[in-house]
Amino acid sequence: MRKLLIAANWKMYKTPTESTAFLTSFFPLIKNDTFAEIVLCPAMPCLPALVDAARAKPVFVGAQNMHWKNEGAFTGETSPVMLSAIGATHVLIGHSERRQYFNETDTTVNLKLKAALAHSLIPIVCVGEKLEEREAGLTRNVLELQTSIALEGIDSAIAAPIVFAYEPVWAIGTGRTATPEIAEDAHKIIRAQIGKSLTPALATSIRILYGGSVKPDNAKSLCCIGDIDGALVGGASLNPQSFAEIVHNAKP
Ligand code: 13P
Repeated sequence: MRKLLIAANWKMYKTPTESTAFLTSFFPLIKNDTFAEIVLCPAMPCLPALVDAARAKPVFVGAQNMHWKNEGAFTGETSPVMLSAIGATHVLIGHSERRQYFNETDTTVNLKLKAALAHSLIPIVCVGEKLEEREAGLTRNVLELQTSIALEGIDSAIAAPIVFAYEPVWAIGTGRTATPEIAEDAHKIIRAQIGKSLTPALATSIRILYGGSVKPDNAKSLCCIGDIDGALVGGASLNPQSFAEIVHNAKP
C-alpha cells in the first residue's frame, strides 16, 4: 500500500513568524488525519522555526531545494548535511520553477537525488511537460527522459523512499488543472519508467503525486485515484483552512 503524501510548497512566501502561525492554525484542523503524510516545504529561513514547531506533531518539514555537495564554496546554496542537521526530512528536487529560472537540469536533479538519499532525506522529484511539449505530442518523451535521467545510477536497494511529483508546467499557478485522465496517463508513464530504470517492485511501491492548481474542490478527483498518491500544492497550501480542506477531501 502506498501511503498518501500531501505536500505544501510555499515557494517564496511566508516569513518564519508567518510559517509557525500557519502551523498553529493548521494543526487543530488535521489532528486526526493520519491517513496521509503531510509535508510543509517553506523557504529556507523558515525551516528551523517550523521544524521546531512541528516537533511531536504528525507534520513533516521539507526544503524546496538543496545543493548536492556536502559543503564548499557555493555562495547562496544549502547542503543536504545542513538540512539534515536542522531536522528537515524531505526535499523538493527539480521543481519546474528551478528548471525555468535557476538552470536546474536533469543532470543536477540526478546529483541532488543521489545526495538526498545518501543523507536520508526523502526526495520529492518533480517532472512535467511544458504546454508546447504537450501540444507537440512530446509528453511521453519528456516524462520518460526526465524520470530516467533522474534515476540514472541510483541503486535500487536504496531507492524506496523516492517520491515523484507530476507537475505539468501549464497547470502550475494557472488555475488550469490536468483532467484526472491526463494525470492518470502521465502517472502511468512515470511508473513504467521507474520500472525500467529501477525494478518492477519499486514501480509499484514508489509514490507519485500530482501538482498543478490543486484546490479543495478538485482534490478528491486529482489526488487519490489509481496511480495518483497525493498532491504537491502551491497557492492553495498558503492558507491553513484551504490546505486542511485539501487534506480532508483527499481522504480515500
Ligand atoms: P499551484 O498549486 O499554485 O498551481 O502550484 C503547484 C506547484 O508548483 C507545487 O509545487
